[in-house]
Amino acid sequence: MRLRDRVAIITGGGGGMGRGIASVLAREGARVAAADLNLRTAEATAQALRDKGGQAIAVEMDVTRRESIDAAVHAAEQAFGEVDILVNNAGINQVIRFEELSEADWERVLRVNLTGVFLCSQAVLPALRRRGGGRIINIASTAAATGAMMSGAHYTASKAGVVGLTKQLAKELAADRILVNAIMPGFIDTDMLRALPQERLQQLLSTVLLGRVGTPEEVGAAVLFLASEDSRYVTGTVLNVSAGQLMQ
Ligand code: NAI
Repeated sequence: MRLRDRVAIITGGGGGMGRGIASVLAREGARVAAADLNLRTAEATAQALRDKGGQAIAVEMDVTRRESIDAAVHAAEQAFGEVDILVNNAGINQVIRFEELSEADWERVLRVNLTGVFLCSQAVLPALRRRGGGRIINIASTAAATGAMMSGAHYTASKAGVVGLTKQLAKELAADRILVNAIMPGFIDTDMLRALPQERLQQLLSTVLLGRVGTPEEVGAAVLFLASEDSRYVTGTVLNVSAGQLMQ
């Protein structure tokens, strides 16, 4: 029970990775708010956690809209108390070549994947400060380090932005005992991965040293480390969870 009664908000909590992360945190005693644009899938996450004896609710949240974020954070705090842990996990992807990339698609992906991290982090900051510290964990991607294997330039730029934002927040918030870190997952078995061209994915799996895709819970284990006391001397870092697909 490494997170007993800590309050965690997980954005994109209705998606594959979000659900895996939520299940690991709830298993360790966290009170979890699964926040998603899709309330139905967020409800399914929360129900699955409650079925296993966890404490969880679903909240509707659009990470691109400040009012929606504030309302969701308020709902989570009404249920569980002030936030200790924010996992910025919501994200969208698009497979497209650079010359075909429209300005609208560029802005849409940047808005969710990068501006969403900015808005959500700013929204929980007063609560984290009042709590005397906390954790912000951002889900980036190996694309940030190497360029994406299949996704578009906007996706890569957004995730590289998340890494930069992580480092800046770590610097600015350390005095408040708020630790900010990122994770770069490799190929993880979720709807986002299943939407990619599968033949190409099979070829790319040869670059993964363990020869298989990862599970959302395996990313959840890394989030747990960054959310727990075990990482109390870790901030501003980027944890690579790609089974050797990326070696820095
Ligand atoms: P997913 O598509 O299963 O889940 C994404 C979730 O984000 C969905 O539930 C969706 O409703 C939600 N979402 C989208 N726009 C939103 C918005 N404006 N506000 C609130 N929620 C919104 O995809 P997956 O794989 O679970 O992705 C989670 C994160 O992991 C993303 O940031 C993704 O970029 C990242 N990632 C995924 C990898 C993979 O192999 N699956 C690899 C590296 C990074």
